[in-house]
Amino acid sequence: MKTFKIAIAGGGSTYTPGIAKALMLKKEDFPVSEIYLYDINEERQQKVAMITQKVVAEFDSSVTVVPTINPKTAFEGADFIFAQLRVGGNTMREKDEKIPFSHGIVGQETCGPGGMAYGMRTIGPMIELCDFAAKYAPNAWIINYSNPAAIVAEAIRKERPNARILNICDMPIGMMLRMAEILDVDKGDIEVDYFGLNHFGWFTDVYVKGKSRMNELREYMRVNGLVTPEQSKDLQHSDADWIKAHKNVAKMLQLFPEYIPSSYLQYYLIPQTVVEQTDRSYTRANRVMDNREKNLFDSIKHLEETGEFQEGFKVGVHGTFIVDVAMSIAFDQRARFLLILENNGAIPNLPDDAMVEIPAYVTSRGPEPVSLKPIGLFYKGLIEQQLASEKILVEAALEGSYQKALQAFALNKTIPSAEVAKVILDDLIEANEKFWPVLK
Ligand code: NAD
Ligand code: G6P
Ligand code: MN
Repeated sequence: MKTFKIAIAGGGSTYTPGIAKALMLKKEDFPVSEIYLYDINEERQQKVAMITQKVVAEFDSSVTVVPTINPKTAFEGADFIFAQLRVGGNTMREKDEKIPFSHGIVGQETCGPGGMAYGMRTIGPMIELCDFAAKYAPNAWIINYSNPAAIVAEAIRKERPNARILNICDMPIGMMLRMAEILDVDKGDIEVDYFGLNHFGWFTDVYVKGKSRMNELREYMRVNGLVTPEQSKDLQHSDADWIKAHKNVAKMLQLFPEYIPSSYLQYYLIPQTVVEQTDRSYTRANRVMDNREKNLFDSIKHLEETGEFQEGFKVGVHGTFIVDVAMSIAFDQRARFLLILENNGAIPNLPDDAMVEIPAYVTSRGPEPVSLKPIGLFYKGLIEQQLASEKILVEAALEGSYQKALQAFALNKTIPSAEVAKVILDDLIEANEKFWPVLK
């Protein structure tokens, strides 16, 4: 039986040990023989590799885990490249969040001005990664988690249209797990209809074994949002910040009961509530650094000092999902997932060249998207505004255009006026001097 080489770009990520464990849990059906970790931060990568080796060895000591900062070594002969770059790290995430908040605007990793700032940093490195893949592993599929996924997807569509890349997000999978728990059914029995952009979409129906359970779910979620009756298995989205986000889904459903909104729509539909709920001096980046990142590096330190292995990370839907997508490609399983794909008529009344988030069957030749019905004017209006903002932001980055960056900011629904857009953009330019293309 063929064995697989997996390369993980952003090998020093907090998610790497969890993804390695998810791979090992499937090893009978998906035999992986080599895991190469690629990063630009050698020290961080070495540390994360140490615990990843330990995780893997608990299952199969013949599987090699190799950290490297050499792209040729990492990618040559890879079957899959999993990507999870955080360009600028959490230090820059903190600025993306705090700068908008200092002007009374939502500050978020992937949405609004923070997301656009992160996009400006990530486009170049993701294009570089596609070029490494084309050079060293032309047959490999890149399965990309690197955020902001919507902006990354649009940039790659434009600049590297032939790249073998699938952009994915674990939020819908996390939400579907919660829906299964609310309905008290097996998560494998849930199937959804969904449309939108990444972090900007709606579940239009939820089926269990082919039967719609949307009404029941809607009734529950109008009161409780995505807060489950018992502790959810979706541990990745379970801390105090996420509970707030899950509760805000109820607020959105009370306003617009037709479809179940992605929890990320809170940043666009009820931004003032989010601003009021947030401690501007201790944002999500602080929480992540003090918890997910700290726990992992504490467990690595403990391993270094005592040789004892503690699992300082979580294997949630995040690890399982990327492995499931890879397996569906590797074995032509035609599994149905929500993916970020070029529209090409799937949503008939949105532009063909929009990168939309829609259901698709994943085959060994790539994704086969599902054709959807035209969407209502309310959703179309919201989506087109966001889409225009994302597309102009990508043009701004590629052309080095200040004017286009300002247009992208002014168009974004999180920002109330062009004057505020300019002030925030100028602050972000200063903060991102080391990362952004020069804007003229
Ligand atoms: P992290 O900071 O712990 O790890 C990211 C790693 O990327 C670091 O080791 C860093 O050195 C490395 N890196 C940065 N630039 C690089 C480059 N140019 N080439 C190679 N490596 C580079 O971040 P994290 O919290 O583990 O998150 C990782 C990424 O996954 C982020 O982009 C995050 O937004 C994303 N993510 C996406 C989803 C999704 O739904 N799409 C879900 C979870 C996380
Ligand atoms: C969800 C989203 C990701 C995002 C993550 C943030 O999983 O789908 O795109 O990166 O949440 O989680 P964090 O714990 O880093 O705030
Ligand atoms: Mn996501």
